[in-house]
Amino acid sequence: MTRKLLLATTLAIATAGAVQAQEFNIIETRQAGQDLLSGNFSGIRAVVAAKGDVKTLENPAKAMARWMTQFPTTFPAGSDKGPTKALPAVWSDPTGFRKAASDFVETAEKLTQLAKAGDAEGVAAQVKVVGDACAACHRTYRQR
Ligand code: HEC
Repeated sequence: MTRKLLLATTLAIATAGAVQAQEFNIIETRQAGQDLLSGNFSGIRAVVAAKGDVKTLENPAKAMARWMTQFPTTFPAGSDKGPTKALPAVWSDPTGFRKAASDFVETAEKLTQLAKAGDAEGVAAQVKVVGDACAACHRTYRQR
């Protein structure tokens, strides 16, 4: 399941890849990162729903934690201008935003450990906690 999703993602990127970014675009980069995070999380949930091998979820869970560790640094001053869905609160309340990100990282790190241990029940429960951490941040820091 994860493999198939990964392959689909890779193909989609390869197809779109004929167009290569000419220069670094911070808004596009963080949004693309969130798309990958979201696709990754869907893959994780699909494996759980299919009662697949949760040990295979260690790497994707770790990737989520690593990305979200960096994510708050992708909102430098000035990047509130442009095609962004981030709310002004990201820049007016950076402490709260960083807290929401680090709370998420904790949930994803715990998911990584549970997956590594092969704890299927624990993983299923933790996936819900991770999903709540996505929603908690979006509620305050992202437009609907
Ligand atoms: C710490 C806050 C935070 C957390 C945690 C978070 N997000 Fe987001 N997310 C944002 C913000 C802010 C944006 C808007 C970025 C922009 O448009 O510049 C966003 C954008 C997105 C987007 C749209 C990307 C695009 O193409 O425009 C998706 C999809 C998304 N998040 C999914 C998720 C999922 C799924 C999770 C949990 C697995 C998650 N996010 C966790 C803050 C967060």
